[in-house]
Amino acid sequence: MGFIWKISTWVVSIVFILSCICSSVTATVTYDDKAIIINGQRRILISGSIHYPRSTPEMWPDLIQKAKDGGLDVIQTYVFWNGHEPTRGKFNFEGRYDLVRFIKVVQQAGLYVHLRIGPYVCAEWNFGGFPTWLKFVPGISFRTDNGPFKVEMQRFTERIVNMMKSNRLFEPQGGPIIMSQIENEYGPIEWEIGAPGKSYTKWFSSMAVGLNTGVPWIMCKQEDVPDPIIDTCNGFYCEGFFPKKWYKPKMWTEVWTGWYTEFGGPVPYRPAEDLAFSVVRFVQNRGSFFNYYMYHGGTNFGRESSGLFIATSYDYDAPLDEYGLQREPKYGHLRLMHRAIKQAEAALVSAYPTVWSLGKNSEAHEYRAKSGACAAFLANYDTRSWAKVDYFNKLYDLPPWSISILPDCKNEVFNTAKVGFHGSHMKMLPVSAAFHWQSFTEEAPTADDGDTFTKWGLYEQLNLTRDYSDYLWYLTDVNIASNEWFLKNGKDPILTIASAGHTLQVFVNGQPSGIAYGSLENPKLTFTGSVKLRAGINRISLLSSSMGLSNVGVHYETYSTGILGPVTLKGLNGGTRDLTKQKWSYKVGLKGQTMSLHTLGGSSSSNWLEGSLVGQKHPLSWYKATFNAPRESGPLALDMSSMGKGQIWINGESVGRHWPAYIARGSNCGTCSYAGTYTEKKCLSNCGQPSQKWYHVPRSWLKPTGNQLVIFEEWGGNPFGISLVRRTL
Ligand code: GAL
Repeated sequence: MGFIWKISTWVVSIVFILSCICSSVTATVTYDDKAIIINGQRRILISGSIHYPRSTPEMWPDLIQKAKDGGLDVIQTYVFWNGHEPTRGKFNFEGRYDLVRFIKVVQQAGLYVHLRIGPYVCAEWNFGGFPTWLKFVPGISFRTDNGPFKVEMQRFTERIVNMMKSNRLFEPQGGPIIMSQIENEYGPIEWEIGAPGKSYTKWFSSMAVGLNTGVPWIMCKQEDVPDPIIDTCNGFYCEGFFPKKWYKPKMWTEVWTGWYTEFGGPVPYRPAEDLAFSVVRFVQNRGSFFNYYMYHGGTNFGRESSGLFIATSYDYDAPLDEYGLQREPKYGHLRLMHRAIKQAEAALVSAYPTVWSLGKNSEAHEYRAKSGACAAFLANYDTRSWAKVDYFNKLYDLPPWSISILPDCKNEVFNTAKVGFHGSHMKMLPVSAAFHWQSFTEEAPTADDGDTFTKWGLYEQLNLTRDYSDYLWYLTDVNIASNEWFLKNGKDPILTIASAGHTLQVFVNGQPSGIAYGSLENPKLTFTGSVKLRAGINRISLLSSSMGLSNVGVHYETYSTGILGPVTLKGLNGGTRDLTKQKWSYKVGLKGQTMSLHTLGGSSSSNWLEGSLVGQKHPLSWYKATFNAPRESGPLALDMSSMGKGQIWINGESVGRHWPAYIARGSNCGTCSYAGTYTEKKCLSNCGQPSQKWYHVPRSWLKPTGNQLVIFEEWGGNPFGISLVRRTL
């Protein structure tokens, strides 16, 4: 008996051990028409985008914990190729680009990851995520059936997948990654370019599937998705979307929680009621996965924002604000909604809904499972009136444009328009940090400076800078004969400059003579202004500045930046002189950049002016100050309202581009009703104010004492107006 007992415990133990081994090997992520299935269980998955380089590694644990507390199951991120491979073959997976560390932080919090490898990402990110060198690969053409492009895309995609595999980060390996994405919103591009787009789709789909990640691939905003890839929806609303094949789950990869801010535009926001309404409308109509884009938007540090005049702040009106604080009422309202959806999960993943009308503009969606689980959604689509609806002899009051969740088909636990949270009044409080400024002013260069080169005619900017710098100088001479009439009658000639973008500063004989700039809608610009010329040789120095590379559009790699002409001078004795085709000299970048003024070492070497000599309102000025970290806790920002346009560094780290002088156009910043279809133009704030005046300074970039702040100011500003502020509730 004892022997038999021993044998049977032995057998049980072996079976147990085997089952453990097997379950760790056979842990699977699959799907059916209802949901993603993790280890045999259908799941309603709530996800949020947090892009790792848009915050610092020191911020990640707190952001992810807040996401978890907010009711999220999954963190979604793109992978940012140009951050990881800035030079071909030289990789960077450090600091803000430590992708493995980020994924492990998510794993430690017990959440899943959706990895959107792309490698095209769009994302208001410089060049849509592609490294600049990619544009210069011979024979390349982006995002189409093009040999050189496919080689590079496959090489990077494989590298990322292998990196994830070797760190055992895919779910079947015991890791948190439950799905991946290849490409991004390729549907509209494929539609435009036709056949080569279709064969590119075939190629990248099978390339991705062939990488055997063990978890599903998804493709967003594209209909002709080959099996087993899942087609998903992006947008402000997705309730009407269904995947093309009935056996795939209904997924929403980008629930836009707000919208991005552009320099020159007002700041968009999206009311919590409408955001919640859109999500519940999706879930009541069989949606089983949704991802907030963005859950935390963060900051476009450095020169990482794209050439769409995207602001440095990527706050996005997300549930966690740029600084990582909960934005109320959005964060708390969504948290309650997530709880209610989870209470309904058992019914949602087991049954199909029955839908019936409850009256004009109102509807019930009921999920009644065989197990007895039941969940109901009562919706009022009317944008003006409340509805009193009868659901199984009980009356429910539904505000306009709202849905109630009854996770047991009896009790309303949540209504999308009944917001119990108060809006948080975020404040920016001054903190005690004194800046003692020093300044260094650049001169416009001349054609004989050592690092210039000369060509006939005007050249496209990015081909010359290769995005090493935002700045390209275009330098030329104009010879004025002493018999020109304007020298006597005082009618200065008119200089006209056509540029493909993005901003332009004009200097004549070293004197500032005007600025011009484009906008997101139209990056092109034309400068027209009268200029002071003298008899003899006149130096025309044009500083063209790029706001980054485009991130979207068919073959956006071919878009131009910089002064392409014509450049003309009107009002001379001979009429109009065309300067376009004459000899131009070029200089990439600024003198201060060559001297590395923004770095700790470089900034100490030059002749900085101090005290009363510190230049104010001078264009092309560098400013430097040393300061101690404030004792007060909380996230920090620089109030830059007294400045014009340029870039900021702290201890050598780039905070980003500042442009408070770009005032948000428009006058439609009044109140906005949550009810009715939302668009990014519907709810706006900040009209008539700088689009962005606060610039996030991550705490982890500061030492207790002796921090160095460096600012390059293009247009001229007053550094004495800059202050450090603390974001607080
Ligand atoms: C989507 C795109 C995202 C982002 C978003 C706007 O179409 O997939 O990457 O650009 O638009 O914020």
